[in-house]
Amino acid sequence: MLRLLIVLGFCILGCRAACNTCNANGVSCISETEFQFCSSASDPIGTLYTCPTGYYCTESTPICSSVASSAGCTGCNKCSSDNRFACTSRNTFALCLGTSTPSSSIGGSCGTNNVCNVGNPNICGSPATYAVTCSRSGTPDCDTTAIKNATEYCQTIQTAGKYPYGRITSTTCRQYVNCYTAAGIFYGNVYTCPGLTYFDSTSKLCTTQTQARCSDTVSCLTLNARLLP
Ligand SMILES: *[C@@H]1O[C@H](CO)[C@@H](O)[C@H](O)[C@H]1NC(C)=O
Repeated sequence: MLRLLIVLGFCILGCRAACNTCNANGVSCISETEFQFCSSASDPIGTLYTCPTGYYCTESTPICSSVASSAGCTGCNKCSSDNRFACTSRNTFALCLGTSTPSSSIGGSCGTNNVCNVGNPNICGSPATYAVTCSRSGTPDCDTTAIKNATEYCQTIQTAGKYPYGRITSTTCRQYVNCYTAAGIFYGNVYTCPGLTYFDSTSKLCTTQTQARCSDTVSCLTLNARLLP
C-alpha cells in the first residue's frame, strides 16, 4: 500500500511536469503549447507542432486542451517567483524586468555546458546540480555584433525606462541604459550606479547585490539577438 502511494505521489508530481517525454496519448509536450509525435519506440520525432491559441499540450486526450490546468511541460517562459528571469529553452533565458511576463527582447544564453533552471539564483548551472526547467532545444548565439550605442539600444527596445546594459561584473553590470523619447524619437544614455553597486534589472535600482545576469555561468546577454557588453 505504501509503495502504491509513493508511485502515485511520484506520478502526480512527476507526470504533470514532464517535458520531452512520450505520453500515453502518443505525443511529447515540448513546452506548454508545443508538441511532437512519438515513434513506436516512444521517442519524440519529426515536426514541432503548436496547439491553437488558447490551447495547451496535454498528456492525455485531446492532445490540445483549453483547460490550462491540464497542460504538461509548464516550465518554459514562466518567470521566477521574484520576476527576475524565465527559461526559454534548455540553455537560453529571458529577463522578466520585474514583471511576470518574460521580455521578448532582453535575454541570454547559458552556453553548452550549463542549463537554465528557474530556481537557480545564477540562472544557469551544471545539469548535474540543476534540473532543466524548459526542455525544448534553444539556439544560444553569443557571436553576434554588440550594441554599444545607448540610442541604438533604446531604438531597438522602443520603451522608456531603465534597462540593464551588460554583464561584466566590474563594469557594465554596474551600468544601466535610460531610454526616453523626445519629439517621438527614442534616445538613450548610459549611467553608472554609485559606489560599488550593481544595476538590478528587476527593481530598476542600484543595489549592493551581485546580479544573476552577471553570473559566470551565463555566457552572454542579448538584446534582440545582438550582444550586450
Ligand atoms: C549612436 O547612434 C546614434 C543614432 O544612430 C548616432 O546619432 C550617435 O552619434 C551615436 N553615438 C555614438 C557615441 O556613436
